[in-house]
Amino acid sequence: MKTLITGGLGQIGSHIAEMMLKRGDEVLVIDNLATGRREHLPDHPRLQVVLDTIADRNLVNQLFEEFKPDAVVHAAASYKDPDDWYSDTITNCVGGANVVDAAKRFSTQRFIYFQTSLCYGLKPQEQPITLKHPRQPEGSSYAISKTTNELYLELSGIDYVTFRLANVVGPRNVAGPLPIFYQRLKDGKKCFVTNSRRDFVFVKDLAQTVLKACDGVGRGAYHFSSGSDVPISELYDAVVKAMDLPDYPQPDIRELGPDDVASILLDPSRTFKDFGPISFTPIQETVTAAISYYKKHGTLGEYTHLRFKEQKS
Ligand SMILES: NC(=O)c1ccc[n+]([C@@H]2O[C@H](COP(=O)([O-])OP(=O)(O)OC[C@H]3O[C@@H](n4cnc5c(N)ncnc54)[C@H](O)[C@@H]3O)[C@@H](O)[C@H]2O)c1
Repeated sequence: MKTLITGGLGQIGSHIAEMMLKRGDEVLVIDNLATGRREHLPDHPRLQVVLDTIADRNLVNQLFEEFKPDAVVHAAASYKDPDDWYSDTITNCVGGANVVDAAKRFSTQRFIYFQTSLCYGLKPQEQPITLKHPRQPEGSSYAISKTTNELYLELSGIDYVTFRLANVVGPRNVAGPLPIFYQRLKDGKKCFVTNSRRDFVFVKDLAQTVLKACDGVGRGAYHFSSGSDVPISELYDAVVKAMDLPDYPQPDIRELGPDDVASILLDPSRTFKDFGPISFTPIQETVTAAISYYKKHGTLGEYTHLRFKEQKS
């Protein structure tokens, strides 16, 4: 099988690429290193890596024409700065439309997309959120641009799966609370936690499900979620434990920022029905794997798509 992975040097894309190479597939990656790293995918005889942007339409078309992928895993996304609408739209809207359009014109058989749960808005109307919940991404540039890409995919008529994701974490995770907690604790700085709750899922559990989707399982929208959430403080405690710190560094407890969401719990029932039961890796194991990655490679900047940054100074 030949798979083109956009954003293949990032957290999710690189784990999928690794699993595909291991089972004998050919992989072509395009990544502009915005948040990815070349060293996430060592050289391999069945791997090609193009360091460039999906916003270049001619390049995207050329890659499809020459490589002729059976499947596309579209994992590239821009989210680093909530006020940088230019970068978000260039990658997520223009780049995303380029990839969808090329897949359509070159008759790619399967298209896998990853959507943010922020597509359901900052104040979701139900818990857990079902796939029937309306998309209302207007509270965030990231969600607006990611939803635009998802809508182009729906419009295209391509055979696709879109995974709307819980918080996917593990090695190579550069965004959100996990790398922030690690870096601050390493620097001896105080962390704060809000009283929000999240469902943290291990990136390798997602990657295994994506391989099934590339092979033909599923059609349309799915939630990739364990179905139960934990307080952010539990993630913090898991980081402290994985770092093996001598004393417990007490975090500050703070109110939620105006663009943060108290709880995002996605209903995974359709996923379990079509993909079968998923045995989710426990949070401590997931966090320990991430911390051993940070110890070797660092955290790469600790991004968050939230305007009111989680930890300052
Ligand atoms: N991790 C999560 O919890 C989560 C949640 C919801 C959605 N997603 C989506 O999943 C996908 C993968 O996320 P991730 O966690 O691996 O993030 P990531 O930042 O590790 O990976 C994104 C990759 O895209 C690359 N990229 C960015 N702009 C590009 C461009 N113009 N051209 C080519 N490559 C570009 C980056 O360099 C990076 O390697 C993204 O589409 C993201 O929106 C992730």
